[in-house]
Amino acid sequence: MRKLISILSIAAALACTSKQAEPTGLVTDKAMVVSAREEASKIGVEIMKKGGNAFDAMVGTELALAVAFPYAGNIGGGGFMVYRKADGDLGALDYREKAPLAAHRDMYLDSLGNVIPNMSRVGATAVGVPGTVAGVFEVHEKFGTLPIEEILQPVIDLAERGVIVTEKQERRLENTREVFVEVNSDSTKFAQVFKTGDTIKYPALASTLRTIMKEGRDGFYKGEVAQKLAEFIQEKGGFITTEDLEKYQAKWRQPVTFNYKDLKIISMSPPSSGGVTMNQIFKMIEPYDIGQYEHNSSQSIQLFTEAARRAYADRNYFLGDPDFVDIPLEVLLDETYLEERFASFSFEKATPSSEVSHGEVEIMESDQTTHYSIVDAEGNAIAATTTLNGAYGSKLYSDELGFFFNNEMDDFSAKIGVPNMFGLIGAEANSIAPEKRMLSSMTPTIVEKDGALFLVVGTPGGSTIINFVAQTILNVHEFNYSMQDAVNAPRFHHQWLPDMILFEEEGFSEELKADLKSKGYNIFEGPARIGGKVDAIRVLPDGRLEGGADKRGDDKAVGF
Ligand code: DON
Repeated sequence: MRKLISILSIAAALACTSKQAEPTGLVTDKAMVVSAREEASKIGVEIMKKGGNAFDAMVGTELALAVAFPYAGNIGGGGFMVYRKADGDLGALDYREKAPLAAHRDMYLDSLGNVIPNMSRVGATAVGVPGTVAGVFEVHEKFGTLPIEEILQPVIDLAERGVIVTEKQERRLENTREVFVEVNSDSTKFAQVFKTGDTIKYPALASTLRTIMKEGRDGFYKGEVAQKLAEFIQEKGGFITTEDLEKYQAKWRQPVTFNYKDLKIISMSPPSSGGVTMNQIFKMIEPYDIGQYEHNSSQSIQLFTEAARRAYADRNYFLGDPDFVDIPLEVLLDETYLEERFASFSFEKATPSSEVSHGEVEIMESDQTTHYSIVDAEGNAIAATTTLNGAYGSKLYSDELGFFFNNEMDDFSAKIGVPNMFGLIGAEANSIAPEKRMLSSMTPTIVEKDGALFLVVGTPGGSTIINFVAQTILNVHEFNYSMQDAVNAPRFHHQWLPDMILFEEEGFSEELKADLKSKGYNIFEGPARIGGKVDAIRVLPDGRLEGGADKRGDDKAVGF
């Protein structure tokens, strides 16, 4: 009998294995980096070829993105990283920006209590205390194996050699040039016109990186760079002081972990809302076996949308920086609570968001964050999402130091109930306070299947991030897509308020939309730019790696 059971379970395991989709993305044997630019992926991979681990590669890739992808890659911003070591050990690093000491709850309101347009979005007043350099040094100190010089020198060389402008980059620079000039002046580097095929060199950034290489994190947070940075921001009317910089610390956090069917999902905890909100979405849909419906059919879209609607409503009310607010995580993630919250779901009819909560908002979409995924030859995995918030952040660029500054202060709720640039409505939990971290949606995520590493995934996209990461996981696990196909698949978004579904332009038929409308769903009719750029890795049943580099960008998987 026992023999029969073991034969049956081997057969079942084989059936499961063979059920996985054949790869369609880059496949390599040992190690891989998938990021927004080939130059950055290559630097990460070269570090691993030299014997460095995934953590060394993270430091190189993160800083290389500051050079090769200044749109979102940064040393003037911040991010989150989730890791899973080959031995199964899990952790997360929060290198999110903080509000400066001079910040206060009403800093973006006029004397009548109205939000001052753009003050939290454009220029020096929008800048939070950057966390990226502290983040990479934390990682290197704790887990790095190569000397920092071996990791940083190739990044400095890239900055000096320069990076070739792609078509997409030309368009992005062109779209923002006017604001660069307004915020900086017409003598700023990016007032110049750069065309596809041009090479942009970054000597000022190379010099700042050299200081950082020599002096470690203090090369950024203390001394000459810190002094120049604080003076520059203050001259431009912003709030960051040398004290703010000196006090900044990245923080190790416990990731959010939960089971979904036979997967264990490991994602970012507050001050990012990513892990908690995704946990709620997955737990609400789990009893419905979404995989029995067709991919992106009415039923699967309804299930996902109704779960997202309820989860985002909780997100906006309850979540904020856990160092400042008590978040009732045990309740929010309790299965009975989520079951009750989803009890009003019906395939017949949409639940209006006004019945889940209330508010009036506009929505703006963008994708100016960047995510990269890394797996090394030992099986260590890293998911990291890093951002300046908006495109080129606040647009404030230090020609002397060679980098853009974030506009992350806009992720706070400047005024309770008034939406931020992603249309997200904040509550008290995400109000501004000195040294507080603003709530994020970034969702760097690692997935285990049957106890082994399975997926590494994440994306930019502001408020859409959480849904897109969840949809990518479902595409692989429920709809049997390869990693590359799961990343390329058309995506949709609902965030509670405004009460509408956004569909990517291609991939959703008019009949499908008409069906959803007949059930009471509002559909955003404008050009919904909701791409995100998912960069992910799947571990295949035979242990090789498949990359998923988003076709929507210049993203690239590189490995060996
Ligand atoms: O942390 C956040 O949620 C945002 N600052 C992320 C911004 C982003 O993804 C930019 N692109 N849309």
